[in-house]
Amino acid sequence: MRGLHGRAILPVFSGDDVKPVSVGIVGLGTVGGGAFNLLRDNAAEISRRTGREIRVSHVGARRENPRYDLSGTIVSRDIFDVVNNPDIDIVVEVIGGTTTAREVVMQAIRNGKHVVTANKALLAEFGNEIFAAAEEKGVYVAFEAAVAGGVPIIKVLREGLAANRIDWLAGIINGTGNFILTEMREKGRDFFDVLKEAQELGYAEADPTFDVEGIDAAHKLTILASLAFGIPLQFKKAYTEGITRLTREDVGYAEELGFRIKHLGIARRAPNGIELRVHPTLIPAERLIANVNGVKNAVLVQSNAVGPTLYYGAGAGAGPTASAVVADIVDVVRALNCGTENRVPHLAFQPDAIANTPILPMDEVVTSYYLRLTANDRPGVLAEVTRILSERGISIEAILQKPAHEAGSVPVILLTKPVQEKEMNSAIAAMEALDDIIGKVVRIRLENLDA
Ligand code: HSE
Repeated sequence: MRGLHGRAILPVFSGDDVKPVSVGIVGLGTVGGGAFNLLRDNAAEISRRTGREIRVSHVGARRENPRYDLSGTIVSRDIFDVVNNPDIDIVVEVIGGTTTAREVVMQAIRNGKHVVTANKALLAEFGNEIFAAAEEKGVYVAFEAAVAGGVPIIKVLREGLAANRIDWLAGIINGTGNFILTEMREKGRDFFDVLKEAQELGYAEADPTFDVEGIDAAHKLTILASLAFGIPLQFKKAYTEGITRLTREDVGYAEELGFRIKHLGIARRAPNGIELRVHPTLIPAERLIANVNGVKNAVLVQSNAVGPTLYYGAGAGAGPTASAVVADIVDVVRALNCGTENRVPHLAFQPDAIANTPILPMDEVVTSYYLRLTANDRPGVLAEVTRILSERGISIEAILQKPAHEAGSVPVILLTKPVQEKEMNSAIAAMEALDDIIGKVVRIRLENLDA
């Protein structure tokens, strides 16, 4: 059967004749296995929602995984057997990475199959090419599981907030990093000890530096920014700073001043372009998002009609991620019933309405700052520091000076009002050049996240 534009629509029959939809899963790790089990466990409830039976008929896994009962399912060691199986309607790509996964997805699209993927790296880096190929072929590439695990933030940005102009969004979008920061803050645990636990729980990326250096969050932020602002995916232009250099000292001072440090992904529509940045950030402790702990994710979206809205839930792990994968399968199955050419656009905006708004270099980003200086305990040092700031038009929000260390040096903590990053870079360089400032100035960005 063909739809309006000659694209394929699976035949739908009434009653007992309704044709099951055939799903092939490529990759049987935490997410693939989770989706397999969820489709089986919730089969009755899911088919009440879709009106069609969903059958996992083919699984591609390079290794045997005795944890899953695959009886009645074709199992191939060559994952391309799944993609090339003519009976498969939807390919679920959950192997991760950007090499073989890219081939799997592109080959599935070429074969006219719909794709469901949890692969944020693949979409952030190659999404423009993938969506163009999918549109050309009239198939759908669904990716709810790529961002914030079980939190349906893709659907929110693409559909729920479609009436709004989105001004900015800020998210805790890496569960592993948030889990580490929370355990370190609440229990004083060691960084590597918590990371190991996150790996055992299936939260961490294959390469955990992706989690702690902010790369995974930048992949996800790239996707969110495209959906929020209708711009192409531009991962390479995202600014990324990890959490590995955060100290307990700064976490403590931030608390004293009424802030929490979170690893945030921030995308903001500024007058001259889009800010796209991932870095540790002080946020007021009273904000709901400041109290998002453990592996939980949250995304705060500021939109012009609805105002601020907050989306919260588990951001990693088998169940939450499988929940999003299966929701995408349900979405595709529903679309199959009426023709995928009428589906919501991949990047929320019509492909010919995607704008080339520039991504701003970090120098041009405007934010507030937390600065920690170690100063010699001498009269006039603070006056010199404040002179450097005032010469650059940087306004101070708060100052905290701690008692002198035995060595005669004092920690000084400053909070500033918003200023362009290049002004702050120049101020920090001038402070570090002062004879009475010892070592490097610690700089952590600060966002009030008010509407
Ligand atoms: N490593 C990711 C995280 C998994 O910790 O959030 C979910 O994308």
